[in-house]
Amino acid sequence: MQLDVTTILVVDDDATMREVLTVRLEDWGYEVITAADASEAQVALEMGRPSVVLADIVLPGMSGLDLLRHLKADDPDRPVILMTGHGTVDLAVEAMKDGAEDFLTKPIETEKLQAALKAVLADMSLKKRVAQLDSQLENKPGFAGMIGRSEAMMEVFAMVELLAENEATAIVTGASGTGKELVARSIHALSRRSGGPFVAINCAAIPEGLIESELFGHTKGAFTGAAQLRRGRFELADGGVLLLDEIADMPVNLQTKFLRILEEGRVRRVGGSRDVEFDVRVVASTNRPIDEAVQRGLLREDLYFRLAVFEIRLPELKHRDGDIPLLVQAFIREFNQKHGTRVEGVRADTMALLEAHHWPGNVRELRNAMERATIVAREGWIETGQLPLFLRAPRNGDPTITIEIGETTAEQVEKELILKTLKHVKNNKAEAARRLDLDVKTIRNKLKRYEEDPAEV
Ligand SMILES: Nc1ncnc2c1ncn2[C@@H]1O[C@H](COP(=O)(O)OP(=O)(O)OP(=O)(O)O)[C@@H](O)[C@H]1O
Ligand SMILES: [Mg+2]
Repeated sequence: MQLDVTTILVVDDDATMREVLTVRLEDWGYEVITAADASEAQVALEMGRPSVVLADIVLPGMSGLDLLRHLKADDPDRPVILMTGHGTVDLAVEAMKDGAEDFLTKPIETEKLQAALKAVLADMSLKKRVAQLDSQLENKPGFAGMIGRSEAMMEVFAMVELLAENEATAIVTGASGTGKELVARSIHALSRRSGGPFVAINCAAIPEGLIESELFGHTKGAFTGAAQLRRGRFELADGGVLLLDEIADMPVNLQTKFLRILEEGRVRRVGGSRDVEFDVRVVASTNRPIDEAVQRGLLREDLYFRLAVFEIRLPELKHRDGDIPLLVQAFIREFNQKHGTRVEGVRADTMALLEAHHWPGNVRELRNAMERATIVAREGWIETGQLPLFLRAPRNGDPTITIEIGETTAEQVEKELILKTLKHVKNNKAEAARRLDLDVKTIRNKLKRYEEDPAEV
């Protein structure tokens, strides 16, 4: 496999300068092509496709400024760094307005050259990454609004597709903010019921005494306060999909009734004397572990069996490998539209922070964080300082270790604990030993082992 080599085009009429720069740049691992003036530069461009141009601002024939305009017209994304001698700094400032990425004053200082190149290259790879994300979003615009490309989400999409094709009752489970409602909406949107209504009712949000009439409706005078006939959500969802959110919070006696209604396809309004037929597809959801809800008697077993013909289990965000950058980009686009901002993406270190976070509130939490960051940044690239505080200082200053039950070995925990304690006490082994209640000797031995086998954790 060939390594990706960055090619730099050096344009300078001074042969010594070309020579010196070539040696230096090649030393750093770049590939170099040179040109003595603008027309040679044009030829080199056509042949070599350099990634970066390093050009003197004063050139015979065509000036570096005109060359810059040509270069930018050819490819606005190719970075151009200009070199200026004494007395041409004003020109260089002008050139920055015309799109030059940076300028260096002669004599060129090695560190400055290196820093300038690193900066433009980091910028390039960032832009490339965001362009990739954008094109992924365009080519695979999620799934009825659901975004993801992780294996875990591909399974979810396959289930949604399957469920959209048939009429089976389904239950969607997953922690808060993982997208349960979005799944129900996707099933609706992709099914033959998409022309019908989508109605949701949250069993946890409605007082127990009211759920029945909310669901099934009531006749005029059915109970005190029922001044008018009212149709229930079942009737309202006729021809469409009814989402029963937080099904485990439905009173158990009502669950029995509800099960019968599901089987019979008819409903009787509270206080009514005849049944109303309906054609509704029911999707239920819960954010409690469902077997636990059944065990604790919160969800009737027979209802569970009726609903769980199909179960879609939504993974937590932290288990969706590779989805965070895609979601971040999608949310930035969404909030740019909503707030009229012009944010392009997030910086690489900021993305690393977003990817490392545990997101207890899952996609909803990420979405809220991105709305805030988009508003704060307004344009350009979101930086770490623009993220909500809890992301910037997730540990409140106090170092902690996270142990994922079922995924972590005791040895891994021990290693992390020892290393982080050492770091916390500034590598004072005696102090670390005291805090860990271990012998200093034990710590030394362990450190030696970690050094010998650093890949172990
Ligand atoms: N895969 C996804 N792609 C894009 N947006 C998503 C995705 N999953 C969830 N969201 C967004 O995250 C937010 C929370 O989603 P949703 O309301 O469906 O979660 P939920 O599981 O029903 O949460 P709760 O348990 O709190 O009811 C919504 O704004 C939704 O649009
Ligand atoms: Mg929900």
